[in-house]
Amino acid sequence: MGELLRVEDLKKSYNVGRNLFWALKGISFDVEEGDFVLLYGDSGSGKSTALNIIGGMDRATSGKVFVYGQEITSFNDKQLNEYRRDYIGFVFQSYNLINNLSAKENILLVGNKPDLADKLLAEMGLEGKGNSFPTELSGGEAQRVAIARSMIKSPSILLCDEPTGALDYDNSKKVMQTLQKLNRESGVTILMVSHNTAFVPLAHKVIKLRSGSVESIICNDSPTLVEDLEW
Ligand SMILES: Nc1ncnc2c1ncn2[C@@H]1O[C@H](COP(=O)(O)OP(=O)(O)OP(=O)(O)O)[C@@H](O)[C@H]1O
Ligand SMILES: [Mg+2]
Repeated sequence: MGELLRVEDLKKSYNVGRNLFWALKGISFDVEEGDFVLLYGDSGSGKSTALNIIGGMDRATSGKVFVYGQEITSFNDKQLNEYRRDYIGFVFQSYNLINNLSAKENILLVGNKPDLADKLLAEMGLEGKGNSFPTELSGGEAQRVAIARSMIKSPSILLCDEPTGALDYDNSKKVMQTLQKLNRESGVTILMVSHNTAFVPLAHKVIKLRSGSVESIICNDSPTLVEDLEW
């Protein structure tokens, strides 16, 4: 498997009053194709900041991000727009579904491929839910619709920011099973952010952030199955 993502000495600062606050103090790591990577750390450690820069939704202060060898941190706005469209799937804590469109219409809004939308809904365990509206779905179902939506463009990498953050235990488990299945059976590369240490055994690589720095990187060749994990 080849290298998909490389992050090199990535820094991000914000102006807070007269001072600079460093949300990322120079982080480096890489992600191989087919990896399930967990980026975890306490609240405020810089996880979302890193994910948003990698996803082309925010700009770095310095440092580089390469995707398939292309330096996205040097892209102009138009290139970044195309990069987001062609390479990135994003799943948020808050689903971000449009309430007056059905589950299937939400998916088709991002990519008009009805057959693939049906296939993805089935893969997510949502057969028969295509015509349901977001308010008629459980949180876990809504999040799986959001995952199906993110997959309709066949992105190179799926970025997930606390995808289970708003869910109870059973729904969290279903969403994690769905993500693991996408990774194991369809080979989808996943970079997931969470502060939940319980997810550590599920990942091939675990990157721990602490106050904007990488504290540790641990690799695991045989991740645990979600079914076998209790938290
Ligand atoms: N626009 C901004 N201006 C100033 N500081 C910011 C801004 N955005 C983020 N920060 C700060 O950067 C740090 C990292 O934020 P970030 O959202 O990446 O944390 P996180 O690890 O995702 O936390 P959480 O688990 O709570 O989501 C925090 O201390 C936050 O207050
Ligand atoms: Mg965050």
